[in-house]
Amino acid sequence: MNSGMQSQSNPAARLRALSGIQPTGRFHWGNYFGAIRQYIELQDVGEAFYFIADLHALTTVREPDRLRGFVRDAAIDLVALGLDPERATLFVQSDVPEVAELTWLLMTVAPMGLLERCHAYKDKKAKGLAADAGLFTYPVLMAADILAYDADVVPVGEDQVQHIEVCRDLAGTFNHLYGTDVFRLPKPRLVDGAAKVPGTDGQKMSKSYENTIELFEEQAAQKKKIMRITTDSRPMEASKNPEQDHLYQLFSLVGSPEDVSEMAELYQRGGFGYGEVKKAIVAAAKDTFATARERRRKLESNAHEIDEILAVGAKRARAVAGHVLERAREACGLSRSSGRRPE
Ligand code: ADP
Ligand code: TRP
Repeated sequence: MNSGMQSQSNPAARLRALSGIQPTGRFHWGNYFGAIRQYIELQDVGEAFYFIADLHALTTVREPDRLRGFVRDAAIDLVALGLDPERATLFVQSDVPEVAELTWLLMTVAPMGLLERCHAYKDKKAKGLAADAGLFTYPVLMAADILAYDADVVPVGEDQVQHIEVCRDLAGTFNHLYGTDVFRLPKPRLVDGAAKVPGTDGQKMSKSYENTIELFEEQAAQKKKIMRITTDSRPMEASKNPEQDHLYQLFSLVGSPEDVSEMAELYQRGGFGYGEVKKAIVAAAKDTFATARERRRKLESNAHEIDEILAVGAKRARAVAGHVLERAREACGLSRSSGRRPE
C-alpha cells in the first residue's frame, strides 16, 4: 500500500534501531551500563539512529547555556564511548523540525486519558507539582521521534516501555483512522543486562539522587567519590554475599571477568576491608574508560569534528523524517494533490 512498509516485508532488510537520550546532565555509570553501552552495540546489528533529545530536555533544563553545554557534551561522550558516526546516525532532536510537525499530527489522535496515565506526568502530579503541557504531551513528541524514522526497534530501559506502547497506540490509531499504513509500528527492546546500577549511597544511581559517578569526571575527584561510597559495618572477618553488595556490583561492571570472580570468592571467604574493593573499582574504572577518555580529550580539542558529525547526522535524519512526514500529511489531507508543499 504505502512505500514506507516495503522494507518491513523484505526479510533481507536490516532492522532499524532508534533511541534518544536526554541531555539533562553529564552521563553517569548508570546511563552507560544501563543504556548507552547497549545502544552502541546495536550499531553492528542493523541500522542505528541515535539522537540527543534536547526538545525533551527543555521540560527540565531552563538555562540555555547549560542546555547547549549538555548537548555538546552528550555528543562528545557518545562518540568517545564508541558510537561510530560511520555506522550509526547521530543527531540532535531539534535539528529535525519535521518531528515537531509530526508531533502535532499525532497530538490530534492522542486521547487525553492515555496521556493522563503516562508516568512522567502522573508522578509529578501525584507529588503535587505543577506540570506543563510539554511534560503532559512528552510521550507524543517521543512517538513522533520514533515514527519519523520508521524505526523497527527502540532499545530503552524499563521506564520507557510505557512510552513505546503509547507510540504504537497513536501510530495504530492514525493508520486506522486514515486507512493507511503510513506509520511502522515499533517494538521496544529492553536493553540486555541493564541491571539497576547502584549509586554511591547504594540506591539506584540517578542524578536526581545526587549519588552518581560521572563517566568523565576528573580522575582524582572520581577516586575520592568512590573511596567515600557508603558501606555497611559488618566485621571484616564475616563472609558476605557479593550479589547483595553495591560495591561488588559496581566492581562487576568495570572489572575483568577473572577479577570479578576472584572478588566474589574474596567476599565469600571474608577477611577483607571494603577499602580494598574501592581501590579495585578505581583501578578497573581507569582501565575500562582509558580509551574513551583519550578519545574524548581529542574530540574536545577539535570543535569542528563534532559539529560535522552532528550536521551529517541531521542531514541523514531529515531525509528520512521528511519522507515520513510527507506520507502522513498526504494521508490526512494536508498536502494538495501532488503531496508536495509549495516551496
Ligand atoms: P537519571 O535517573 O540520572 O536522570 P536518565 O533518566 O536520564 O537518568 O537515564 C537515561 C537512561 O539511562 C534510562 O532510561 C535508563 O535506561 C538508564 N539508567 C539511568 N540510571 C540507571 C541506573 N542506575 N541503572 C541502570 N540504568 C540506568
Ligand atoms: N524519553 C526518553 C528518556 O527519558 C528519551 C527519548 C526521547 C527517547 N525520545 C525518544 C527514547 C525516542 C527512545 C525513543 O530516556
